[in-house]
Amino acid sequence: MTDVGRHPRIKLYTLSEMVDVKGYVGNFDVKILKKARYVDENECTACGECAKVCPVVRPDEFNLGLSSRKAIYSAFPQAVPSAYTINVNECLGHNPAVCAKCIEVCDKQCINFHMSDEEIVERVGSVIVATGMEPYDPTELDEYGYTRFDNVLTSLEFERLINAGGVTAGKVLRPTDRKRPRSIGFIQCVGSRSSRKGSSYCSNVCCMNTIKSTLVLKEHDRDIQVKVFYIDIRAFGKGFEDLYKRSRRLGVHYIRGLPGTVEETPERGLRLAVENTASGKIEYHELDMLVLAIGVKPSSGASRLQEMLGLQLTTDGFFLEAHPKLQPVDAATRGIFYAGCAEGPKDIKESVTQASAAAARAIRLMHKGEILTEPITSEVLSEHCKVCGRCAEVCPYHAITVDVKKKLPAVVNTAACAGCGTCAAECPFGAISMNHFTDVQILDQIDAMLNDRPQDKILSFACNWCSYAGADYAGVSRLQYPPNARLIRTMCSGRVDESFIWHGFAKGAPVILVSGCHIGDCHYIDANHWTEKRIRKVHKKMTKLGIRPERLQLEWISAAEGMRFAEVMQRLEQLRSTVSPEEIAETITILTNNTADGA
Ligand code: FES
Repeated sequence: MTDVGRHPRIKLYTLSEMVDVKGYVGNFDVKILKKARYVDENECTACGECAKVCPVVRPDEFNLGLSSRKAIYSAFPQAVPSAYTINVNECLGHNPAVCAKCIEVCDKQCINFHMSDEEIVERVGSVIVATGMEPYDPTELDEYGYTRFDNVLTSLEFERLINAGGVTAGKVLRPTDRKRPRSIGFIQCVGSRSSRKGSSYCSNVCCMNTIKSTLVLKEHDRDIQVKVFYIDIRAFGKGFEDLYKRSRRLGVHYIRGLPGTVEETPERGLRLAVENTASGKIEYHELDMLVLAIGVKPSSGASRLQEMLGLQLTTDGFFLEAHPKLQPVDAATRGIFYAGCAEGPKDIKESVTQASAAAARAIRLMHKGEILTEPITSEVLSEHCKVCGRCAEVCPYHAITVDVKKKLPAVVNTAACAGCGTCAAECPFGAISMNHFTDVQILDQIDAMLNDRPQDKILSFACNWCSYAGADYAGVSRLQYPPNARLIRTMCSGRVDESFIWHGFAKGAPVILVSGCHIGDCHYIDANHWTEKRIRKVHKKMTKLGIRPERLQLEWISAAEGMRFAEVMQRLEQLRSTVSPEEIAETITILTNNTADGA
């Protein structure tokens, strides 16, 4: 951090937050709100004289309330810049008539109550999202007694206790009597891997953090009794298994099973009841102190940032990468990358690896000064554009601008366009052409596929990233599915124009499948929401026209769901066998009578 602070080509904004972002790769205009520090950060030497005289005492957030700080303080010992800051909501001296003690003792005269928040706009080429994570609050897990018993701590609080720079200078002391505990227990997976309370995912770091803590405890005191209550120990990183074994060799007792209750004894010790799932017996353990190995949650600001940058979140609330294997640090929006726990729970080594990868990806994109646009982008046929603005409304990347007031046709920013094709599918006037996936190309594919015995075919549209890959996976897995499925690949299910569906039915297709990534997994942010809406609209029209709506199916199939793809195809084959030649002929007549492919 100090290196970052000193680097001549890195501008570090502390006490700042991003409040707005406009633009696209290479040209992001980022609005930053820099909060007033009320201390001149260039002059302050962090001598601490001001804090000595400050009369306001508050719990120290860095030590999780285990120690106190003043209203003028340094957030933590290694903070960059090394300057104090005033929490103006706590300070009495905002009105210097009440208290101006810090001003009086500051030789450098760096305290200034007239400072105000500043708004700064920076133009940047790429953005790296590194919002970190937050610890799980175990208050809701009342059975562990975190709010009832002072000798129950979270793993983070314990970390501040055992840390040499922490509140007890590294001495482990019981909060109630400040004596050295003779026995300590750790409960794993608190707020993780639970369908009841907390999160269902594994927080990735708690097992190794506990193992590290047991080793440090044993280093401090070989005779201390340490017990770890766990579901299973996940020591999967390089060298981690050795640490686990070392912990066991040092006498740490690992008990498979999570306690059901924790009670306090009259001596303020703790009594745990646990089912040891290895022996199948109920056991009771008496301990001096208990540590809850709490899981991690996404940062609370993630959803706001997601809206601002047009990103996607997983159902767990972490940022979704463009591709889990091939683009693990890229966002779906070009020029935005992820580092650390923003993308999912990870330890320091993994965070550093990902941050290095994100920096390299950003440099690779930026170093030339110009970037090549993707060939698959949309193009406006301005002579057909009626300036309705529908394309701009549905574009997940805000890559299209339409000046409705001046009646200027839509303009596509090809650097920002990712090529999903939703605009082309939604344009009611055919004024947008999707390069490499034009209407003509797709309609010709439909014609070719339904040229011979259309009544036997299952016409399927599959998005490149999920369903098409799912079909591929079904193939390489040697799964059997009806051979009459005919797949048309589009980059996203959002590209499937209503007219393609009518055209398919008009050409005699008995059933049509539109498939894409699961909702929330679309590689073009939320483009498949438009697919869903469009299909709903077509279903209504089919009902109105007297065409069975179930003949048009919408399915979400991921790249890993080869089995599901095969099952869907088998189900569609059954459906196809229920569509008689007469029904197909009637559909063709209806659509012919309703002009322009029924649309
Ligand atoms: Fe698969 Fe959008 S990329 S539905």
